[in-house]
Amino acid sequence: MDGYRNTVINDLGLLGFVNDVVYYDSVDSTNTLISGLARGGAGEWTVVVADSQSEGRGRQGRVWHSPPGVNIYTSFMVKPDISYKHVPAMSLLAGMVVATLVEQCTGMPAEIKWPNDILVKGRKVSGILLDLLSDDHSGNCVVVGIGINVNADASVYPGSLAETSTSLLLLTGRTFDRAEMLVSLYSLFYKWYKVYAGHPGFDGIREQFMQRFRMIGEHVRIMSGPETLVGVVEGIDEYGGLVVMDPDKRMVTVKSGDVHLL
Ligand code: BTN
Repeated sequence: MDGYRNTVINDLGLLGFVNDVVYYDSVDSTNTLISGLARGGAGEWTVVVADSQSEGRGRQGRVWHSPPGVNIYTSFMVKPDISYKHVPAMSLLAGMVVATLVEQCTGMPAEIKWPNDILVKGRKVSGILLDLLSDDHSGNCVVVGIGINVNADASVYPGSLAETSTSLLLLTGRTFDRAEMLVSLYSLFYKWYKVYAGHPGFDGIREQFMQRFRMIGEHVRIMSGPETLVGVVEGIDEYGGLVVMDPDKRMVTVKSGDVHLL
């Protein structure tokens, strides 16, 4: 474990844009932790990495199973100088970046399920959670939390997760160096974040995203808060919203929610 800790702190610290690296063997949630650091004035590109999480948070209030010694749990914080309406596209940017990394590691095509689940062979290998902290003084402060199932074998997933999840190890039969992956992840993120910041919204990353998006024409049910929408996926709008044609042939744009393929 010390090896992981030392390499993470050293190698991520060498990336010129990284402001500070905070490592924990165990933490409740790297997103919760970094949100506290942000409120305390931590700078942009502060990065938190943990070997395990006791209360890993998933989207829609779900739990992110976070056993020690095998996977990546990391969060970082940026303050994009862009209009509020362009912030949700960051969620899709994160999905595109992680999908690219997963493809580089496995040599297999990765698929993005809107907004940012990463699937390989139909199983989820990574999840991303954005927390938006904003106030009138500091503008948008976005926390991006990323979990990647790296060296976990099937036995670490409880219950039904074993049927829907996978890991890079299960996909390839190889183990991966998590610290090396983190360096690649952050290098890729920085590269694409600059593209996005120079061209805010979804259009700057549309091409890279759409290469990995296979939901066009799919019949879906979307749960968005108390509302449920059924329809056919038509595309993604300039802000990263999912455009769906409802049964009355009206176009509806969904800004957030959980999508189930029918
Ligand atoms: C999801 O697919 O539901 C999102 C999962 C996000 C998990 C990551 S792990 C690192 C960061 N810390 C958390 O508590 N959650 C995110």
